[in-house]
Amino acid sequence: MNAVAPRACAMLLCLTDFPERFRVKAIHPLKPANREEAELLEKLDLNRLPNHIAIIMDGNGRWAERRHLPRLAGHRAGVDATREIIDTCSHLGVRCLTIYAFSLENWRRPQAETTFLMQLLRKYLKREIPTIHKNNIRFFVIGRAAELPKGVRKDVDDAMRLTARNTGMKLAVALNYGGRAELVDAFNSILENIRANGLSAFRADEQAISNHLYTAGLPDPDLLIRTSGEMRVSNFLLWQIAYAEIYVTETLWPDFTRAQLFRALVDFQKRERRYGGLGVRSEQTASADAVGGNHVGRTGRG
Ligand code: FPP
Repeated sequence: MNAVAPRACAMLLCLTDFPERFRVKAIHPLKPANREEAELLEKLDLNRLPNHIAIIMDGNGRWAERRHLPRLAGHRAGVDATREIIDTCSHLGVRCLTIYAFSLENWRRPQAETTFLMQLLRKYLKREIPTIHKNNIRFFVIGRAAELPKGVRKDVDDAMRLTARNTGMKLAVALNYGGRAELVDAFNSILENIRANGLSAFRADEQAISNHLYTAGLPDPDLLIRTSGEMRVSNFLLWQIAYAEIYVTETLWPDFTRAQLFRALVDFQKRERRYGGLGVRSEQTASADAVGGNHVGRTGRG
């Protein structure tokens, strides 16, 4: 059973007598705001949520362009969506949420845009960290944080220190992050450890590599969400998403609402996760085939 069961049960109690209930005054932070949310929440099994959700928040620029606004307006609108999704995941009882806020490659954008994004991040931290802290969320950054501008580094450090003892959802913000750079940093960290401790007989295994990633100690993401329809992983959590279920939506990030998140979760719960094995249904067929001598191969890599 998921560690959030008590909260999940409390919410189920207030949802069982839906649809009448969602028309009255909200009694829970996740009370459905409209019929769409209510219908999706009804389909959701709150005891089978992903432990770790990773999100590539994409499409801020296009959102703005479609409204004949400057790109920066899209990033500003993206902050509102980010706030709502963090809050919702935390109240749902998701254990860990990782959001891709700024990649190493994003420095290739015009300087005015990168400067704006750094300022936006500082404003975001100033405004949102008190609520994040109040909601018992532990905030931290993954990426080459030491290379961030000094002011950003200070705000990030303060936020990490303030929330360090929180025991609720872990919120990892990928900042100055690249998946290949993370692997390079992990390998160098392993090599340093070997040199410092004279471990000539050391042999790496998967756990050793995981232990040296920025995400050490976190479970791998079960669900990777990407907005704006692009079918790529953009150098995000390359090692950790080996078995993540991928959900891509055409919706642009500023339009990604709670209902869209519930939709992604409902979709996730329909997937059969096989981790390279056969999965329950296929195992039954395989056993029957073995008895009956049917040798037709199966497709797919698990
Ligand atoms: C992608 O849209 C978004 C980013 C590069 C920045 C993400 C930042 C936010 C959502 C702001 C809020 C986050 C925090 C933590 C403050 P894009 O510009 O690549 O969009 P496009 O592909 O349409 O051009």
